[in-house]
Amino acid sequence: MTQSKLQRGLQTRIVRAEDQLTPGFESFSMPVTRASTVVFPDLATMRALDWKNDAQWRYGLHATPTSLALAQRLATIEGGNHALLQPSGLSSISNVYFGLVKAGDDVLIPDNVYSPNRDHGDWLARDFGITVRYYDPMIGAGIADLIQPNTRLIWLEAPGSVTMEVADVPAITAAARARNVVTAIDNTWSAGLGFRPFDHGVDISVQALTKYQSGGGDVLMGATITVDRELHLKLKAARMRMGIGVSSDDCSLILRSLPTMQLRFEQHDRAALGLAKWLKTRPEIFSGVAPGAIRLSGP
Ligand SMILES: Cc1ncc(COP(=O)(O)O)c(C=O)c1O
Repeated sequence: MTQSKLQRGLQTRIVRAEDQLTPGFESFSMPVTRASTVVFPDLATMRALDWKNDAQWRYGLHATPTSLALAQRLATIEGGNHALLQPSGLSSISNVYFGLVKAGDDVLIPDNVYSPNRDHGDWLARDFGITVRYYDPMIGAGIADLIQPNTRLIWLEAPGSVTMEVADVPAITAAARARNVVTAIDNTWSAGLGFRPFDHGVDISVQALTKYQSGGGDVLMGATITVDRELHLKLKAARMRMGIGVSSDDCSLILRSLPTMQLRFEQHDRAALGLAKWLKTRPEIFSGVAPGAIRLSGP
């Protein structure tokens, strides 16, 4: 199958998720299901609920049909199996920390990480007995030398926030896997469209849905996406314990924007490339840079 056919297939699945249609009411939109308490036919049914099953409704905080629909579409976009929603991208980052690390553990963070993630790491290091070390994002396979017996989590961000270095993700994840260390990428810059982290050995993808997925500048939300169910359940347990949830109204705004995400992403790409090419002609921007040192790909 060609790349364009693959993309079309994905785009169609984002617009129209067959398994999420209400039988007899096959609208493209998802209904907004708001809830706090949900009721059960009897006590035995309530007691038989399994918190590990994402589609068993227990309490509006944990999931509603609207939030589950959004989570499933996000997992589809990234090629994952599971997704959890948090009320901001930063709370998704926080969910990863609290789901995976405890006192005595060690975390590696790229030096160009989104700065509130860095602040979060510094806070854990200062107040929660966790060691946090920063690495050169261009370290590649050299990350192996930094992994200690107590290293539990390696963050990645490619491109990294603001300075935009693109890390060698497969080299870093291969070294992490060899030592049983979980990797999490902040994949916000790619929206899950420009880079597919699970194809490159990453364990957890974090998205700030506040950006491309929302598209309207009117919703804050984040997601953690995984292929592995056990990892998903670790994050889910932490999320429940922290009392984190999202509103179905906000989910419905994002569900409405998702079908146009790829079009917006491509236009953003074209506009940014045009701007970069124009900047390249400006002597005041690139003075001091050796000719040819900056190369732009694309047409
Ligand atoms: C790369 C990246 N990750 C995470 C976030 C956090 O998202 P939120 O603003 O929803 O907390 C942002 C927001 O600027 C971001 O740029």
